[in-house]
Amino acid sequence: MAKGQDLRMTQEAHVTQGPLTTEAGAPVADNQNSETAGVGGPVLVQDQHLLEKLAHFNRERIPERVVHARGAGAYGTFTVTADVTKYTRAAFLSEVGKQTETFLRFSTVAGNLGAADAVRDPRGFALKFYTEEGNYDLVGNNTPVFFIRDAIKFPDFIHTQKRDPYTGSTEADNVWDFWSLSPESTHQVTWLFGDRGIPASYRHMDGFGSHTYQWNNEAGEVFWVKYHFKTDQGIKCLTAEEAEVLAGKDPDSHQRDLREAIERGEFPSWTVGVQIMPAAEAANYRFNPFDLTKVWPHADYPVIEIGKLELNRNPENIFAEVEQSIFSPAHFVPGIGPSPDKMLQGRLFAYGDAHRYRVGINADHLPVNRPHATVAHTHGRDGHLYDGRHKGAKNYEPNSFGGPFQTGRPLWQGIPVTGVTGETVTPVHAEDNDFVQAGNLYRLMTEEEKERLVGNLAGAISQVSRDDIAERAINNFRQADADFGKRLEAAVQALRG
Ligand code: HEM
Repeated sequence: MAKGQDLRMTQEAHVTQGPLTTEAGAPVADNQNSETAGVGGPVLVQDQHLLEKLAHFNRERIPERVVHARGAGAYGTFTVTADVTKYTRAAFLSEVGKQTETFLRFSTVAGNLGAADAVRDPRGFALKFYTEEGNYDLVGNNTPVFFIRDAIKFPDFIHTQKRDPYTGSTEADNVWDFWSLSPESTHQVTWLFGDRGIPASYRHMDGFGSHTYQWNNEAGEVFWVKYHFKTDQGIKCLTAEEAEVLAGKDPDSHQRDLREAIERGEFPSWTVGVQIMPAAEAANYRFNPFDLTKVWPHADYPVIEIGKLELNRNPENIFAEVEQSIFSPAHFVPGIGPSPDKMLQGRLFAYGDAHRYRVGINADHLPVNRPHATVAHTHGRDGHLYDGRHKGAKNYEPNSFGGPFQTGRPLWQGIPVTGVTGETVTPVHAEDNDFVQAGNLYRLMTEEEKERLVGNLAGAISQVSRDDIAERAINNFRQADADFGKRLEAAVQALRG
């Protein structure tokens, strides 16, 4: 797209030739007056244009995403800048300089489709690589950790972030009741109420794959990796007061900022890095490397730069390309796979299921979702809005008619497991507890950062109606760091009186 131009003005497709038609293509005589029985009489059922127009309008919405409903997306390019072939055999990472088309959808988590952008909430960072071996989705956030470590808690957690079934509003009691009873959330909550909790825009924040994923190389060796996307625009955040004003004045602030920057030709970019852990080191690492509430300190596993991500093209149609876009942590390509992280394992199911409900069984075949650098060859057929793309090809395998065939090589390597089945707690490693990394994060902050963190937390906790919930919440931060707890207790007391 040319610099500084509104995309709409550059699209010839938008200049429609010829008369307005019905959905079936017949010309429409009058689009202003419906057909009546005589002047001033009742409207006739034979006015098919009217009926079709009203019926189509009634069906314009699909269910919004149950989380991350509000978002904005853009296409871009990923370029490899380092040789990683000793770690993964993924074709899109096979050569320095190699480029892959991408689509990135940013989002907030808790708000509904029409909510304001400038709020304290994690930001989604869902990235699709259209690789020659199929689409690889990395569905992460702007935070390296998460609130919980087992997928079985996710629906409960999200219920506390969304509207209460009785009041219809989000409730501080629900939020802090759940967090205070889930001490593993202390690290992420400390992050969220710190300065980075309200990014100034989608361009001015980092992204993370958050989970640990598997890379495997040609020789079948396994590495555990964590992805980092460092913003080249620099980190910029809003204070709680700034955000309150902006959310009211311009609810679409993040979405507009992204679109306008790309229209101006100011293409946002991120430097992509990975932390890499050889598989043999996982068992004895001081933190459980598959626990999503923990980071791997960079001193243990430094971030190695591997690429550049640039966003350079706006979608032409928000509904088609952003609302109907789908991302799944289960979309892997050869050389990349899941880790045993229990959250990730739950997500491997949840997203495909959500897509089938929200967009439909043929969601994978919409232009934004289908592979762009290869073609999907499946035996799956039919269903709602099937486009007949397989034509007359056989729909079974094995077959003798030259149809697609299985490769015999799994995308990822198997991992050793032991023991008996059961509802097990995530294993605890030597230095693991729910508070250690929250305390480390607090102690890294400057005095001013600590003050803002405590002020933000106190403002939120003081909204809680019950003292026992407020005290339990404070106690989690006290266990992270005594000074943190002391200051927070005083600040909450001052506000609650
Ligand atoms: C077990 C825990 C989780 C479950 C069950 C879950 C489930 C879901 C579901 C059902 C959606 C809506 C998908 C759609 O309708 O297309 C969604 C969206 C999303 N989730 Fe999760 N989620 C979980 C944890 C996480 C975590 C840990 C992250 C980040 C590290 C994350 C990042 C996202 C993002 C970025 C989106 C928006 C994707 C888009 O832009 O379409 N989720 N999640």
